[in-house]
Amino acid sequence: MYLQPSQIRHVQLDFTSKCNLLCPACARVERGAVNPRLPLSELEWSPGVDRFFSPEFCAQLDYVLFSGNYGDAAAASGLPQFVERLLARGLKCISISSNGSLRTPEWWSDLGGQLKGRGQIIFSIDGVGDVNARYRVGSNWEKILANIRATAQTGVLLRWDFIVFRHNEHQIEEARELARRLGFNQINFRSPSRLSLQPSMGFEPPFNPQYAPQNAQQLSQIQAKYGSFEQYVKQTRIHCKTQLDHPSVFLDFRGEIWPCTWLGAPPYLPAESQQSIDLEKLRRYYEPGFNSIEKHSLAEILAHPFFAQDLEQSWRNSDQRLFTCGRTCGENFDYTCLIRYSNSHMETLKARSSCT
Ligand SMILES: C[S@@+](CC[C@H](N)C(=O)[O-])C[C@H]1O[C@@H](n2cnc3c(N)ncnc32)[C@H](O)[C@@H]1O
Ligand code: SF4
Repeated sequence: MYLQPSQIRHVQLDFTSKCNLLCPACARVERGAVNPRLPLSELEWSPGVDRFFSPEFCAQLDYVLFSGNYGDAAAASGLPQFVERLLARGLKCISISSNGSLRTPEWWSDLGGQLKGRGQIIFSIDGVGDVNARYRVGSNWEKILANIRATAQTGVLLRWDFIVFRHNEHQIEEARELARRLGFNQINFRSPSRLSLQPSMGFEPPFNPQYAPQNAQQLSQIQAKYGSFEQYVKQTRIHCKTQLDHPSVFLDFRGEIWPCTWLGAPPYLPAESQQSIDLEKLRRYYEPGFNSIEKHSLAEILAHPFFAQDLEQSWRNSDQRLFTCGRTCGENFDYTCLIRYSNSHMETLKARSSCT
């Protein structure tokens, strides 16, 4: 069994597929433009959402994290109302991740006011000044600064997530200092861990060994031991992060539940990727909507054969497992830059730092 409903401690929400930027390695971007297969929409407060986020379920959760695969929560017009409803249902903490280069200072001030004492805002900013726009394509530095200042004035918890690339590694100290002056509670320097598997897109990992992805070295060891990464993915022991380390489910902007953000990603990835091939097989095997909160309660979804037995069984069988599981949760390769794993370097700037 993946998890019982009573074991879930948090929900990750890919609230929308809308965004104002075109970060080159984001799943919503393809060859510099919006992925043409991606429908642009956001999660509405529907009857299914109303049932899913029941007061009992909200009270049991430590937090809901708005950050997923395809969009920026601040780009969704329904965000403030959605947040208000979750808070009214007794949710303790809401964490929202955004590029910060959209909306107005007034809008951010309102959101900060809503979340003060009940959440945190994470700004994803990969550089100081114009350097940020090298990866955050289309962002506007002055707008980001004005939005951060307005948010900080509300007293809400603030975190800066900074992906350290070669082109911005010289700004680490400058970013840390600026973060202090702007009133951030934390700054998280993240190693660009995906680059070890997809070294293209013109972005390079930093030279500084402290921030270089740990998994580059792991990849050489894997190739020596297994012959290839694909063989490793099939054979490695799986330690499911969201089942064992952070008991949670992922809800996407179409209202479908997945164990994690990585298994929820494939619907709009290129058809030839192994993840999409796996997802297509899975879709043909199960009935449509088996994981939809519009059709089923959370208890029904988690009791479905996919969650109740097939997923865990697939981890024990090298021919049946999903590529995503072996790649993301294999025990010898740190694919993610999740906090508390090796590709995340969190620094606390102010005493009270986080509710996640
Ligand atoms: C798709 S974004 C959605 C949330 C929001 N739009 C943002 O950018 O923070 C989800 C997470 O992916 C991260 N991300 C984007 N490109 C990345 C990359 N090349 N490597 C690792 N994480 C990346 C973002 O910084 C963010 O933390
Ligand atoms: S800001 Fe976030 S959602 Fe938007 S393109 Fe960049 S990574 Fe993707």
